Order: sequence, then structure tokens, then C-alpha cells
Amino acid sequence: MITSTDQTVLVTGGAGFIGSHTTLALLQAGQAVVVLDNLSNSSAQSLERVARIAGRAPVFVQGDVRDRALVQRLLREHRVGAVLHFAGLKAVGESASMPLTYYDNNVAGSLALCQAMAAAGVWRLVFSSSATVYGDPATVPIREDMPTGPTNPYGRTKWMVEHLLGDLAAADPRWQIGVLRYFNPVGAHESGLIGEDPRGTPNNLLPYVAQVAVGRRAALSVFGNDYPTPDGTGVRDYIHVMDLAEGHLKALQALADRSGLHTWNLGTGQGYSVLEIVRAFQQASGRPVPYQVAPRRAGDAAASYADPSKAARELGWQARRGLTEMMEDTWRWQSLNPAGFGGG
Ligand code: NAD
Ligand code: UFG
Repeated sequence: MITSTDQTVLVTGGAGFIGSHTTLALLQAGQAVVVLDNLSNSSAQSLERVARIAGRAPVFVQGDVRDRALVQRLLREHRVGAVLHFAGLKAVGESASMPLTYYDNNVAGSLALCQAMAAAGVWRLVFSSSATVYGDPATVPIREDMPTGPTNPYGRTKWMVEHLLGDLAAADPRWQIGVLRYFNPVGAHESGLIGEDPRGTPNNLLPYVAQVAVGRRAALSVFGNDYPTPDGTGVRDYIHVMDLAEGHLKALQALADRSGLHTWNLGTGQGYSVLEIVRAFQQASGRPVPYQVAPRRAGDAAASYADPSKAARELGWQARRGLTEMMEDTWRWQSLNPAGFGGG
């Protein structure tokens, strides 16, 4: 049990990729869960699948985190003891063309949530931040105390919310806030029933590779092969979404006897290049992944991977699943659900 026995965890954005896997982990740990999601980037099917795996369902409320009155009512009615805040928009390119939409969903959404929490007397919060707040890191691995400086509007929304939360924690010792900076979440639950289901053309490497392998797209574009990395392609810290989910449970537990704001990287500490991912995926799927080298993508760092030792020390958490498992689980989800949740 994560909170005291009669309390619930509110999961905003719980129908999405990371939120659905974390909701499953909470239910499997015996925790009561309420999901609030406006389904702007997800399908309620994900929660039906979660219920199938867990043998019981979370309460699902379709609504917006910016609706303060609604959130406040949910916090009171469900005796919420802690909130996991995943709800937000996450596409870097889109954030540059629609900054108002991003600041509204991500910053105003977080502000409304915190206002509702303070009004309802709920003080424990875990926020989904991102390694994008580090911008183009001067050195790797990246520690939490290294300089931040996001290079796109999406990243700045995360960075602004981190500062907002820091100011709240400084003003009132009742707040117990965990900021989790995720590196590159990939993979799917081992059942193959839930996974990442991006709308339109995927922006991220793994969903794109998986759609090439399953025959939905012709070839991958590798964005640049002249980076100062061993094979010239970008290096990232890919982390299995179930490891990430377990990190949230550990963070909730750790916050129970900590006040203030605490920031933890969630990554494996191990970087892999784009070409290493392509090879590993081909091996896991037994399918070819044709690719062509394309120009660098604007704003991409050469290498980004975590120093995850603070989370290991303070949360007793570390990623357990390796690259092969990440690729095999992604492939199981993709091949069983070639059209994502839209396939029924
Ligand atoms: P996702 O889009 O699958 O999930 C986000 C969910 O939030 C969706 O179900 C969406 O419908 C919902 N949502 C969006 N705006 C909302 C609003 N105003 N009110 C209610 N619900 C709303 O994305 P994800 O990959 O699961 O990411 C979850 C969180 O983690 C996001 O905050 C994201 O920025 C952060 N994050 C993701 C990554 C990544 O690569 N996936 C990396 C770092 C951080
Ligand atoms: N890449 C390709 N081809 C593609 C897609 C990606 O070569 O079609 C390369 C990128 O250049 C990069 C690597 O694959 O070198 C990973 O790219 P992703 O887009 O999957 O991931 P990023 O590290 O660029 O960004 C992701 C999320 C951001 C988040 C960041 C840090 O998209 O939202 O991780 O958490 F902020």
C-alpha cells in the first residue's frame, strides 16, 4: 500500500503511455486509483486493458486537469492522499508552433492542480518532468544538480513547473513533492496488452522503428551520423516503462516521510546509439528495419544519459530491465496491436 489504507492515488493523464503502466503497477500493489484524463492524446481502451491485466479497474473520470473545481471535488470525494501528475502535452516540434496550447496545458494545468490540492489539503505530489530540462548537456552522465536550460517551449513548460513546485515547497513545509526527470521511456507491459500508441507520425525513435518493422512505414530516417559519438549517431538513455512505473511507486513511498521538493533522474545510466537500437530491434523482432541517413534534427543533443545514483540511494530504485527486454516488449505490443488501441 502506497498511501494509508483508506486513501486513493489520483493519476492525471493516467490513460496515456506512462500513466497507464503506472496505474497498473499501483493497482497491482493494492492501491485504489482514480484516473483523470481528457483523452486528448489517448484512448480509454488503455484503462480497459489495464483492468484486464490487474483484475480490477481504476475509477476513470474524463475531464481536464485545468478544471480546478472538478479536481478539487475528486480530491475530496475519493479521499486522495497523493497525486501523480502525468497530464500534459509532450511533442517538442508541436510546442514550437503552438506555445499557448503548451503553456496552458502544462503550466496552467499544473498550477490549477496545485491550487486544488492546497484547497483540499492534499500535499503529496509526483511530477513528470523530463531530461529535456538539461538542454544540451555539457557533460554526461547527467546529475540532478547540473545546470538546466531547456531549448524548446515544451522543455520550458517542464522547467517552469519545476520552479513553481520549488516555490510552493519553500513556502509551506506540508508539501511533499517529487520531481522525476525521465530519460527516454520505451517498451510496454510484458502482456503486450498496453503500450505506446502515438497519433500520426511518431516523433520518437522507438515507435517509429516499431512501425517500420511491422510494415506501417517504409524506412527510418536516422537524424545525423556525424555526431561525436562512437558510431556518429545520437546516444540516449532508453528506460523500460515498467521500470519507470515502479520508480513512481518508490517515489510515493519515499515522500511519505520527506518534506520539501526532491528531484530524481529516472534512467538506466547506459546510453545506446540510434544504430544500436535499430540492430537490437531487428534481432528482437526478426524483421528488417531499413533506414537512410538524413540531416541532423534541430535541437538534438549528441549524447544524453543519466547518472541514476541519487534515485538508487534515496528511493532504493534502479532500472532492472535491459535493452533486449525493452525491444522484445515493444515488439510484442506493436505486433499484437499493429494499429494501436484503434485496432480494438
Ligand atoms: P501521453 O500523451 O501518452 O500521456 C499524457 C496523458 O495526459 C494523455 O492521456 C492525455 O490525454 C492526457 N492529457 C493531456 N493534457 C491533459 C489535460 N489538460 N487534462 C487531462 N489530461 C490531459 O504521454 P506520456 O508519454 O505518457 O507522458 C506522460 C508525462 O510524462 C507527460 O507529462 C510528459 O511530458 C512526460 N514525459 C514523457 C516522456 C516521453 O518520452 N514519453 C519523457 C519525459 C517526460
Ligand atoms: N531519431 C532518429 N530518427 C527518428 C527519431 C529519432 O534518428 O525518426 C534519433 C534522434 O535524433 C535521437 C534519438 O533518435 O538521437 C532519440 O530521439 P527521440 O525523439 O526518441 O528522443 P529525444 O531524446 O530526442 O527526446 C525525448 C522526448 C522528449 C524528451 C526527451 C528527454 O521526445 O520529449 O526525450 O526526456 F524531452
